[in-house]
Amino acid sequence: MYHPCVAGRLEVIAGCMFSGKTEELLRRVERARIGRKHVLLVKPALDTRYAPEEVVAHHGRRLPCFRVPQDPSIDALHEAAGWELEMADVVAFDEGNFFGQDFPSLCEVLVQSGKRLIVAGLDLNFRGEPFGPMPVLLAQADEVLKLSAVCVVCGQPATRTQRLVNGAPAEGGPEILVGGLESYEARCRDHFVPPGHPAQS
Ligand code: TMP
Ligand code: MG
Repeated sequence: MYHPCVAGRLEVIAGCMFSGKTEELLRRVERARIGRKHVLLVKPALDTRYAPEEVVAHHGRRLPCFRVPQDPSIDALHEAAGWELEMADVVAFDEGNFFGQDFPSLCEVLVQSGKRLIVAGLDLNFRGEPFGPMPVLLAQADEVLKLSAVCVVCGQPATRTQRLVNGAPAEGGPEILVGGLESYEARCRDHFVPPGHPAQS
């Protein structure tokens, strides 16, 4: 028996902070809209940085978005976006790293319903460990883009995010701590100092 192909796909944009993930997400959203696709842009409500109801890149590009809980069910997504969810050809999520472990299943359901999904998020937390649902999403993805930033110490490509407390590498702390330039910087492997590994002088 003939089964029509599912048109849906999952694209993941990963990398450390200040690598341009959100910029790339918003670029894809704008291009899809130019192509007359209906795009739903979503972020987790706990990302209160810059503006509560917008996705904002560090260098200023910004678009309005819907906000959902950390572990959104399809019903919660529906509650936030209403009819726009059914209409959407493309669903774009920023801060994928903040979502819970059930998020990849939700993404699969949306892909199976024929939607193009784009998820941007940090692959690693400040400890240098895989962050939230990102490893599973990266494995499930049809397409992955991994971006690097610039190491603030040596200027080489940066793939890690250093958390700072009073200007020094963080010794510990919760995995989730919303922040920007005041508490984080991009570093290469050589200059990244994970908790428990004192910086070499
Ligand atoms: P960005 O990738 O769009 O710059 O945003 C990353 C967000 O994640 C920012 O609010 C800081 C936060 N964050 C954590 O909560 N824990 C971490 O370990 C790291 C590296 C970032
Ligand atoms: Mg971002």
